[in-house]
Amino acid sequence: MITISPSLLAADFSKLGQEVVDMYDAGAQWMHIDVMDGHFVPNISLGPVVVKSIRPSCDIFFDVHLMISDPVKYAPAFASSGADLITFHLEAVEDPAETIKAIRALGKKVGISIKPKTPAEAVFPYLPMVDLVLIMTVEPGFGGQRFMADMMPKLLAVKKECLRLELNVDIEVDGGIDTETAKQAVANGANVLVAGSSLYSKENYKAAVSELILSAEGALSSVNY
Ligand code: DX5
Ligand code: ZN
Repeated sequence: MITISPSLLAADFSKLGQEVVDMYDAGAQWMHIDVMDGHFVPNISLGPVVVKSIRPSCDIFFDVHLMISDPVKYAPAFASSGADLITFHLEAVEDPAETIKAIRALGKKVGISIKPKTPAEAVFPYLPMVDLVLIMTVEPGFGGQRFMADMMPKLLAVKKECLRLELNVDIEVDGGIDTETAKQAVANGANVLVAGSSLYSKENYKAAVSELILSAEGALSSVNY
C-alpha cells in the first residue's frame, strides 16, 4: 500500500490549519512537516509551537522531518506538540543508535534520513531499530527542486537490505515527487511518498492526491526488487 504525505512546506502559511484539513479530506493519510534550523540546512521553517497549533485540526498522522543539528535536544518538544513519527538525519548526529533510543523513549515512531551524498550502506546498521528510512531525492532545505533520479539505486539497495533482513520498515522518498517520478520511486522500493509543490500547487487537492496514488500503485506491478 502506498502512503501519501503532502509536505506542508508548500502550503499557504496564512491558513496552515485549513491546508492540513484539506489534504486530509483529499485522502492523504500523513502530513509531512519539514523542520529546518538554518544550521543543518540553509533555511528556517517552523518549530514545535506551529505543530501544536495545527494538531487539533484533524487526526492526520504527523510525519515530522527534522532537518536540524540537534534532534535529541528538540525531539521532546515535537513529541509533546503532536508528532507521530520523528525522523532525524544520520548526518546530524554522532551516535544514531542513541538518537533512535531517545526518540523511541518519547513513545513516538522513529525515522532515519540520509542526504543525497550519503551512501545507502550508512543506514544499514540502524534498519532493525527504526520504523522508517527517508531517502532524500533532493538536497534538503527547499521545496520545488528537481527529483534526483540517480538516487534510485540507493533506494533499491535499502529496500533489498530490508527484504534480506525481513524487516517491515517503511521507505519514504522526499523531493520532486509527482505522478511521474513517483512511479520510479515505487518501482525501486518506496512506499511513502512526500509531495509538496506537486500537490499544493493544484486547485483540486482530492484529484491531485488520487492521481498520485493511482500512478504510484500502478508502478507496484513493475517493481525492481
Ligand atoms: C526539502 C523538504 C521537502 C520538500 C519537498 O528539504 O524536506 O519535504 O518540502 O517539496 P517538493 O515536493 O516540492 O520537492
Ligand atoms: Zn521533508
